[in-house]
Amino acid sequence: MKKAETGLTEEIRQVIGMSLPAGEAAGWLEEYAEPYRELMTRYRCAMMEVETKFRVLSEELSLGDDRNPIETIKVRLKKPESILNKLKRNGFPMTVESIERNINDIAGVRVICSFSSDIYMLADSLLKQDDVILLQKKDYIAEPKPNGYRSLHLIIATPIFLHNSKRLMKVEVQLRTLAMDMWASLEHKLSYKKNAESADMAAELLACAEISAEIDRRMEKIYSDISSKG
Ligand code: GTP
Ligand code: MG
Repeated sequence: MKKAETGLTEEIRQVIGMSLPAGEAAGWLEEYAEPYRELMTRYRCAMMEVETKFRVLSEELSLGDDRNPIETIKVRLKKPESILNKLKRNGFPMTVESIERNINDIAGVRVICSFSSDIYMLADSLLKQDDVILLQKKDYIAEPKPNGYRSLHLIIATPIFLHNSKRLMKVEVQLRTLAMDMWASLEHKLSYKKNAESADMAAELLACAEISAEIDRRMEKIYSDISSKG
């Protein structure tokens, strides 16, 4: 009854039906549908915990006349289709245990900041917390991707406290400026039409990424000039 209400099992049913050979899907669902729902609930809780950590920092940093460095916080849970496709693509076992072990970005928290320096300040504040473990850091700001993509990516592990247990959960945190987010959002939209993308378009996207990086540098300079005067 509960399963039908959430609609989740139906979604998993469809994805599994498409991902597994005929005859195996029913067995998979019987074995894993419930553990899958339980796992996704744990990821949702971890996502809420990390979102709250940033909301707390945002509250504290907006005290008094201080400027709030956080523009927006967005959270997302990876869809069943993307999860199972990722398992398949990488040749990982199609089990719920394998999802938890092998996929780092089920729970995602994206923090949009005002200035580049805010990104590093917020990442430091998060990583200093004694219930946050850093598992992986990718600094695509210091070293942008060849297509121009910039952001700071962290994979962290953090505990969630359930009624009779404590579980460490992995969360992907992406920190970006408004300019980085604008570029990434538009590039993502355009990438749906990738088959139409030419070398010229890729070069143009890269040029836009460089302009957006330049905007960040100039805005940061204005900000630091104002701060040093005030
Ligand atoms: P996945 O892409 O998640 O399979 O893993 P990965 O290990 O390659 O991760 P990476 O840290 O490089 O990127 C993960 C996420 O960052 C993606 O899911 C996107 O949200 C974002 N991202 C990375 N590269 C790009 C890019 O070129 N364009 C855009 N728009 N987003 C990107
Ligand atoms: Mg991802």
